[in-house]
Amino acid sequence: MSADEPDRIEAILRVAARIATTTPSGRVLLARIAAQLDPDWVPEAMRARVSGHLETALDATAEPLRRETVEAILQQAWGAPASDELDELDPEPVAVTPTAQVHRATLAGAPVAIKVLRPGLSAAVRRDLVLLEGALAPLAAVLPQLDGLALVHEARERILDEFDLEHEATVQRRFARALRRHPVLSVPAPVSRLAGEQVLVSEWVDGTPISRMPAGPERELAAVRLAGFVLGGAREGVMHAGADLDDALLTPAGKLAVLDFGSACAVPAAGAELAQQAVDAFVRRSGDALGTALDGLGLLPPACGPAALALLETALGELGGEAPTRLDLDALAGVGRRIASEPAGSLELLAAARLPAEHLWPLRAVGQLGAALARLGVTAAWPELVARSLRDGWAAVS
Ligand SMILES: Nc1ncnc2c1ncn2[C@@H]1O[C@H](COP(=O)(O)OP(=O)(O)O)[C@@H](O)[C@H]1O
Ligand SMILES: [Mg+2]
Repeated sequence: MSADEPDRIEAILRVAARIATTTPSGRVLLARIAAQLDPDWVPEAMRARVSGHLETALDATAEPLRRETVEAILQQAWGAPASDELDELDPEPVAVTPTAQVHRATLAGAPVAIKVLRPGLSAAVRRDLVLLEGALAPLAAVLPQLDGLALVHEARERILDEFDLEHEATVQRRFARALRRHPVLSVPAPVSRLAGEQVLVSEWVDGTPISRMPAGPERELAAVRLAGFVLGGAREGVMHAGADLDDALLTPAGKLAVLDFGSACAVPAAGAELAQQAVDAFVRRSGDALGTALDGLGLLPPACGPAALALLETALGELGGEAPTRLDLDALAGVGRRIASEPAGSLELLAAARLPAEHLWPLRAVGQLGAALARLGVTAAWPELVARSLRDGWAAVS
């Protein structure tokens, strides 16, 4: 890095922050973060400023859509009044989120969930992403080994997916089919005929979201199943990248039903295989094998294997061991502290690291899962769970 690079990064981040706080899609993004974020995570010095932005964003996106608006969206999507298709549409939304609103309805005698996208959002997001791409382009010059443009392009494509419910229906159908006969996991089937860019109709799921389950063994089991669902997806070719404790429900039949496929990504078989080899190498504490796997993934040169192993062992601490360990906010903070206490080792690896764009969303999937589980506090033998999920896919979930 040259001397003025920190300043340039700072300037870029300032522009990104301005886009995030002043554009419609930036507000949506912040509102989503606010819904997930534990205020304790924000460093004390930033808390007042950040939480102000987050609250404004939440307020601006919490306004429910009026019934007429919902009906107009349905009519436009279906080319006929909603009442022609539905037996009944519950006027009270069951959920109002920054991006969408969900109503319960009855279709051909069966209960369904109707998700409608906030109007105008997808066009606004498209515009804002162009701005953001422009603002972030200089990052590519500052961090050339990261191939920033490919990463920004990948992020843009995946983010746009989230504002297309027709795409979401296709992804959800793939999950629903693959899990149709699974003993403990399920995904509601979408009604393809009624899917559109702004509308998604799915089987209704009765159940209690993990976020509302009392602490105890039942919640632990549900959380571990959610982990197996997300991680195992890598082996199945598709990962849910938006793990959310509100969107994973324990059903009366004792299954874990997962909702909300806005953010998902394809995983090539070769990538899953190499990720499994990397985790196996870590479990065996083989730096050389880790180097080979990380090189195969395009993340680090093979010679960095032993250094990567050492840093991972230090950073993960007990979380990286064989014994069941509690993953919670303190444990995550500990990982951060231990990485910070090894500045030389981490910077050296960072300088040698690459991040191929195809890994961006799988990493997001893992990050989002980790954050969700840590908010809850979940105990498991993590390396073993990850290794088993990458090896056996959803068959590992019981
Ligand atoms: N098929 C369904 N059955 C029951 N409730 C649902 C269903 N789909 C969505 N919901 C409810 O609506 C909420 C928001 O839906 P979700 O798809 O997560 O929207 P968003 O993408 O905006 O987060 C969910 O957390 C859940 O409470
Ligand atoms: Mg959701």
